[in-house]
Amino acid sequence: MMVKTLPARTLLFLGLCLAGRRGFASAPEVKQPPKRIAVIGAGIGGTATAYFLRQEFGTGVKIDVFESGTVGGRLATEEIGGAEYETGGSVLHPLNLHMKHFVDRLGLSQRSDVPGKMAIFDGEQLSFQESDWFIINFLRMLWQYGFNFLRMQMWVEGVLDKFMRIYQYQQFGYSFSSVERLLHAMGGDSFLHLANQTLEEAMLGAGFSQSFLNGIVAPATRVNYGQSVRINGFVGAVSLAGTDPGLWAVDGGNKKVCSGLLYHSKAELIPAQVTAISTKQRPIKTGGMASLYEVSYIEKSGSAHALYDIVIVATPLHQGVSQIAFHGFSPSIPSHFPGRYHQTIATLVHGLLNTSFLGVADPPSEFLVSDILTMEHKGSIFNSLSSIDPVHIPPGYSRPPASVRKVWKVFSPQPLTDTQLSQMFLSWEKVSEKRWLAYPSYSQPNRRTPPFVLHERLYYLGAVEWAASAMEMSAISARNLALLAHHHWHGMKGKIDQEDLHTRLRSEL
Ligand SMILES: Cc1cc2nc3c(=O)[nH]c(=O)nc-3n(C[C@H](O)[C@H](O)[C@H](O)COP(=O)(O)OP(=O)(O)OC[C@H]3O[C@@H](n4cnc5c(N)ncnc54)[C@H](O)[C@@H]3O)c2cc1C
Ligand SMILES: *[C@@H]1O[C@H](CO)[C@@H](O)[C@H](O)[C@H]1NC(C)=O
Ligand SMILES: *[C@@H]1O[C@H](CO)[C@@H](O)[C@H](O)[C@H]1NC(C)=O
Repeated sequence: MMVKTLPARTLLFLGLCLAGRRGFASAPEVKQPPKRIAVIGAGIGGTATAYFLRQEFGTGVKIDVFESGTVGGRLATEEIGGAEYETGGSVLHPLNLHMKHFVDRLGLSQRSDVPGKMAIFDGEQLSFQESDWFIINFLRMLWQYGFNFLRMQMWVEGVLDKFMRIYQYQQFGYSFSSVERLLHAMGGDSFLHLANQTLEEAMLGAGFSQSFLNGIVAPATRVNYGQSVRINGFVGAVSLAGTDPGLWAVDGGNKKVCSGLLYHSKAELIPAQVTAISTKQRPIKTGGMASLYEVSYIEKSGSAHALYDIVIVATPLHQGVSQIAFHGFSPSIPSHFPGRYHQTIATLVHGLLNTSFLGVADPPSEFLVSDILTMEHKGSIFNSLSSIDPVHIPPGYSRPPASVRKVWKVFSPQPLTDTQLSQMFLSWEKVSEKRWLAYPSYSQPNRRTPPFVLHERLYYLGAVEWAASAMEMSAISARNLALLAHHHWHGMKGKIDQEDLHTRLRSEL
């Protein structure tokens, strides 16, 4: 909806990033490389970890990836009405550089773009409806919200500019031992502060109006995270960046990146559920003891266990999401960290929309809006309603109007009842529901994020989700942990938690 060009600075920087691949990341290898590494979870986080671990440790190490469900995790598709549609993580930002890199590297492509229009539903009618004309949208926004709108774009761009620094640090091999340090390296105290306040506090503090927050900002946080403007300011900014132009998806489905990374990393996929991780001491040939991790798991043929030098947990360690016991650690590691995951139900409906339900007076044949976001209102049953396109766009495809039976996706906090469905739709052929524990519930912004480092060589990828949950965030965390595991293993302290990288790297360039 919002036409914006990428700042020249960002583009320049992007070029530098891609040109300087790996930089001077490798240092003299002093210690023997690790023999075996385990990754638990084959979502985008776990598979990206396998990919980056291979890059850091080379071909000698054996990498096992455990997955109890399906490869892709929260990236998943569902067949309905004769085609596949995304039900989980669906859109990527044009500046999600790791995801872009994976797609290029794996020989995948971006899905063709089908232009869409956005509207906002206030519970009775569409309070805002995007037009084909940029100038009309602009004037409507100006009329309703003054310059809040332009200022928001600048505000988000300011956050994004700092966010982009992480790619340069990672290019040069720098890693961070906690989410706070990673955030601090990107945006200094202002980022920590942002993550430590609600989006509402941050934006009111920056002079945005409450009506703008209710009318424009809340619809964005509701569609992306199913939550209000009381989420933390950092994930809020990520959410608002989701209204930038140029959003994309992977042709054939986003989960293709996960299977591609797994294959490319030459990791072994072990279809099993990990039940426990414990510390083990083993005598070594040269004398002395080596400390290893024992991973216990249940596969089809029964339970088994295996020893590893390094373990990376790439599934959320939270109530209802996973159940892994940690034995023999001091201090002890809990199976579940504080905080819960927020439920979002993705309902795909192949049917005919009841446009009067949205207070639309125009005939359905003229209703071409693709994304209906919602303001918070009494009795609201859904967070968003979108006319969605298949994961692969056939030639000559155009999005049909609402008078035609097509596939809609509804995000709601609770499953939709038949009564609710029959209010929203005149008729339907098929309904498919996917219940996600989707992303953290960000209601308490100043909760400390879980640690990246659970024990000497045992890491937790999902900690990053408490700053913000997104495919790219998992990929950034994956790269960070592969680097961190490498630097810990080889004692390269100079590449961990360095301060002032932004200024230092600028002078090195
Ligand atoms: C409805 C919805 C919409 C979203 N929209 C977007 C979006 O548009 N853009 C975006 O960037 N992000 C979006 N996200 C967020 C994004 O999908 C996630 O941040 C990302 O996919 C998380 O990846 P992950 O690999 O870290 O975790 P997961 O994908 O959850 O992977 C963890 C894996 O570990 C496995 N596992 C769990 N326990 C065990 C065990 N004990 N043993 C073995 N395996 C185990 C699980 O089966 C799972 O496959 C959305 C998420 C949802 C649910
Ligand atoms: C976060 O906020 C809490 C409470 O307002 C405060 O005690 C804490 O110091 C803040 N932390 C940071 C990193 O700003
Ligand atoms: C469509 O929605 C309107 C408004 O909510 C409602 O009055 C009407 O009964 C719905 N139509 C059908 C066929 O359910």
